[in-house]
Amino acid sequence: MLIDTHAHLNIEPFCTDPEPFIERAQNAGVRCILVPGIDIRTSEIAIGLAERFEGLYAAVGIHPQDSAAAPEDYLKILEELSAHPKVLAVGEVGLDYYRDYAPRKTQRRIFREQIAFARDRKLPLIVHNREADADTFALLDAAEYFNAQFHCYGSDAAYAQKVLERGARISFTGVVTFSLKARAVLKTLPPEKLMIETDCPWMAPAPYRGKQNEPAYVREVAQAFAEVLDIPYHEIVEITGKNALDFFRIPPL
Ligand code: NI
Repeated sequence: MLIDTHAHLNIEPFCTDPEPFIERAQNAGVRCILVPGIDIRTSEIAIGLAERFEGLYAAVGIHPQDSAAAPEDYLKILEELSAHPKVLAVGEVGLDYYRDYAPRKTQRRIFREQIAFARDRKLPLIVHNREADADTFALLDAAEYFNAQFHCYGSDAAYAQKVLERGARISFTGVVTFSLKARAVLKTLPPEKLMIETDCPWMAPAPYRGKQNEPAYVREVAQAFAEVLDIPYHEIVEITGKNALDFFRIPPL
């Protein structure tokens, strides 16, 4: 089953009129889309979209870039939001030492708190890790919680092995359609531990590079997996889809 495990339909340019994008995705064969929050407001919008559209699900969480702006009672709000039946995960959460939009100390505190939150509720984590390999492991190790999807994977092959050894999963965006480095990492990994995503509106795959990304283009990601792993396209769709269904405990469609 073709599943986009990470699409920001809760922000512009999608959130005002998401219908044409969802329709194009459905026409492209995408059966299920997971919409992660980046702050409280977008977490709420993700839930609203999940209520409106079949096959759409939400994750709630505070993105590292938004961690300095998180309200004091954000965990209480996330708790209320996560009670919604279409909320499947806590995300996206993590550390971003590349952009450093929020002080690293704040990023670590908010990530640590959300790991504990997810662990207590037995919800999977959607992890954003940008140039923060060591601290990401340090915080997950401290909580002994690795029910996590390392989304938009950008680290090296050795780190990927350690991610999988801990029982976590890895997902790739359209970057695998053009980045030799990402393709070399992908080639070393077992497909049954992998998922696919667009991370739209960013990370557009070839041949749409530089343009706005959207969920329909998750097909290009699956196609790149097929080429790199030398597995037929329909098998990639089946394997990565099953992995996403199991990992996020998506109800039968
Ligand atoms: Ni994202």
